[in-house]
Amino acid sequence: MRLSVIGCGYLGAVHAAAMASIGHDVVGIDVDARKVDSLSRGIAPFFEPGLQDILTAGIESGRLRFSTDMADAEGAKVHFIGVGTPQQKDGYAADLTYVNAAVESLVPFLSRGDIVAGKSTVPVGTAADLAPGIEAKGATLVWNPEFLREGWAVQDTIDPDRLVVGVVPGADGDRAAQVLREVYHPAVAKGTPFLVTDRATAELVKVAANAFLATKISFINAMAEIAEVTGADVTQLADAIGHDARIGRRFLGAGIGFGGGCLPKDIRAFSARAEELGRGESVGFLREVDAINLRRRHRAVELVVEGLGGAVFNKRIAVLGAAFKPHSDDIRDSPALDVAVRLHGLGAQVIVTDPEAVENARRVHPQLTYTADRDEALRGADAVVVVTEWDEYRRQLDPAHAAGLATGRLVVDGRNCLDAEAWRAAGWTYAGMGRP
Ligand code: UGA
Repeated sequence: MRLSVIGCGYLGAVHAAAMASIGHDVVGIDVDARKVDSLSRGIAPFFEPGLQDILTAGIESGRLRFSTDMADAEGAKVHFIGVGTPQQKDGYAADLTYVNAAVESLVPFLSRGDIVAGKSTVPVGTAADLAPGIEAKGATLVWNPEFLREGWAVQDTIDPDRLVVGVVPGADGDRAAQVLREVYHPAVAKGTPFLVTDRATAELVKVAANAFLATKISFINAMAEIAEVTGADVTQLADAIGHDARIGRRFLGAGIGFGGGCLPKDIRAFSARAEELGRGESVGFLREVDAINLRRRHRAVELVVEGLGGAVFNKRIAVLGAAFKPHSDDIRDSPALDVAVRLHGLGAQVIVTDPEAVENARRVHPQLTYTADRDEALRGADAVVVVTEWDEYRRQLDPAHAAGLATGRLVVDGRNCLDAEAWRAAGWTYAGMGRP
């Protein structure tokens, strides 16, 4: 099927390449000429496992190309909107500038019978606002939220755990849902749940899912706060409650909390939208979820300060991790980088390392010192802070080896990902989050 994907960021670039990999003829469109140039040359503009391979294969097959010219979307049967919806600069609401601009510039190239499938995460009601311009051209607007996780984006796109399509109920909506079944044919063939809803529900499914995940993380981090004043161990607590199938162990990882380009801004946008709808109190708990989350970054800094005897001024601190999570080079709202910046603000000599995110981090926070070499970061450090649970730190860093490089013996485990016993046995003072 001929498809266009408008927006070639973390979502759109993966979607375009993944759709080509399952046999579609895809054009990805973005206003950023540098990004389009990189993608056209088969070079992934960001780190995402597996993307490089499907990008190269797609371009070589002739089924995948990229363009800055919206006219190239003409003739596609389905147009996916995958542009960003960041937090507004001066408030909590989502900034819909890019979605509105994408739709406005796409409309002139739509033909009767085309389907526009919104994938961007938007406040409920956005589709209803966008629909008239699209429908005036005889095209159909559906909302098809994306649930991919960075680091697993290729797999999540090709083989998602569910597909959701929001349509206007009726014959046109049924037809559009059928076309999307054809688009996602390999997943549909293997029986992946395919839910057809109205558009408002589809928009809400996405923000509700992210709000739930954020709440789950903040719940366990709230338990970590209680554990800290009682001597309890939050990781054992998470294991114990996680065995209850109704609760489940996933996303009960206590630590410095959630970040990235989605969870933080999505819960804020949800609060803002609920306020607009006169139902602010219904999601009032999301403010608490946000507050708990931000407190945990502060707590990690506190552990370093306490561990170093009350001050970090002029202390050399190795910060292991900058990405908001492993298998990603994304530093948007990264708790890891925030901890590094806060320590730097307290006068510490911070040296940050990360297997993939150093260049992105340096661009945004040039005041910090960076190295791609883990051991160089550790050399001469008064304290070591692990803030992104890359295997390079979690599994591959031998505490005895680290002790041979660092000067001090304090390790703060901001992700509760290290083997505390092994570190202690190697002479380290280990401080976890919500652990004795
Ligand atoms: C999230 C959702 O998981 C996806 O389903 C969704 O599609 C995506 O947002 C989106 O809206 O586009 P992502 O931001 O890639 O995906 O990352 P997650 O794996 O959800 O992790 C988010 C943050 O939570 C990370 O900073 C991670 O370190 C943190 N986290 C996760 C914890 O602190 N504890 C946990 O137990 C799990």
